[in-house]
Amino acid sequence: MQIHYNHILKKYNTFGIDAKCNRLFFLESEEDIVDYFRNHCNGSLFLLLGGGSNLLIKNDIDYDVLKPDLFGINLIEEDKETVTLEVMAGQNWHKFVEYCVMNNYYGFENLALIPGNVGTAPIQNIGAYGVEQEQNFVSLRGYNIESKQFETYSKEQCEFGYRNSIFKSKLKGKFIITSVTYKLNKNDNPNLSYTELENYLTQRKLEKTAKNVFDAVIDIRSNKLPSPSQLGSSGSFFKNPIITQTEFDRISSEFTDLRGFPQNDGSTKISAGWLIEKAGLKGYRIGDAAVYDKHALILVNYGNATGDDIWQMAEYVIKTVFDKFGVRLEPEVNVVE
Ligand code: EPU
Repeated sequence: MQIHYNHILKKYNTFGIDAKCNRLFFLESEEDIVDYFRNHCNGSLFLLLGGGSNLLIKNDIDYDVLKPDLFGINLIEEDKETVTLEVMAGQNWHKFVEYCVMNNYYGFENLALIPGNVGTAPIQNIGAYGVEQEQNFVSLRGYNIESKQFETYSKEQCEFGYRNSIFKSKLKGKFIITSVTYKLNKNDNPNLSYTELENYLTQRKLEKTAKNVFDAVIDIRSNKLPSPSQLGSSGSFFKNPIITQTEFDRISSEFTDLRGFPQNDGSTKISAGWLIEKAGLKGYRIGDAAVYDKHALILVNYGNATGDDIWQMAEYVIKTVFDKFGVRLEPEVNVVE
């Protein structure tokens, strides 16, 4: 285990916030995790840091930061049609997706270029272009801080939802994921349910293969979303709101171009990016905190914004959208005080 004192977290969060923490622990094995809770932990509060890609650190952190750094991909099972892999939590998500595509293991090609690590993917049930990580999820293993045991969670036990899981509710701050097991397909049968993706391939007369989907997603995302190495951000800052049919009818009677995505329970998901753009905030900037000018759902740090600057921008966006549409946006990112 490595311990760093008074450590600057700028390079550990994709927003590039220059916050400091008292102690940063790199937990490099399951033994390190047990050791930390037995011999180093001096309070109930700590921040779990994965790839730091879904996080806004508002201020300096006066409690411990834990970074699980376990690496490797283990083959668990293989047959003619599928392969089951156990992936350690510290593996970079995009590199894992690339590894799958290169080895002809399919299912995650639509999730190319999502920043972050495999160990944090289940927490917010990452999703893009018609696929969510839960679709290929088998189970995960991790350390339960309350029972002091390593435990395995099945898909049902994880309670996955849209950008949600039990690790954002009941088990928030109580469970350290050490590995995730996924089952991938060997049949090249990509998911093209997302119209923009299907159009991309059709317009370019590209074959509907997983490799082409992988490349298409990289191209689409690169043109629309900021690369964290060039511009600080946390991807989508807000969730897409899910509203009732009555609310949808109310808003769309005034704004006829509002699109709704019907949910199974009769509610409708609408685009937060659209709401923010219609509220006139696309590209809005105060100092170095801004609403990204190519995609209004993303807040960006042009260099020296503090966590508080970004949070004030978020609050301004929430208020402006609420005043105009009566819909309250909720952050998708984990906001840390
Ligand atoms: N739109 C606007 N203005 C904007 C941005 C979007 O009007 O500035 C509208 C457009 O109508 C567009 C629609 O919103 O057609 C949807 O936009 P997009 O395809 O970019 O998807 P999104 O709903 O904004 C979600 C995810 C993304 C994911 C994409 C693609 C959430 C919170 N975000 O964004 O995930 O990549 O779909 O599937 O669900 C992330 O979670 O960090 C993330 C980037």
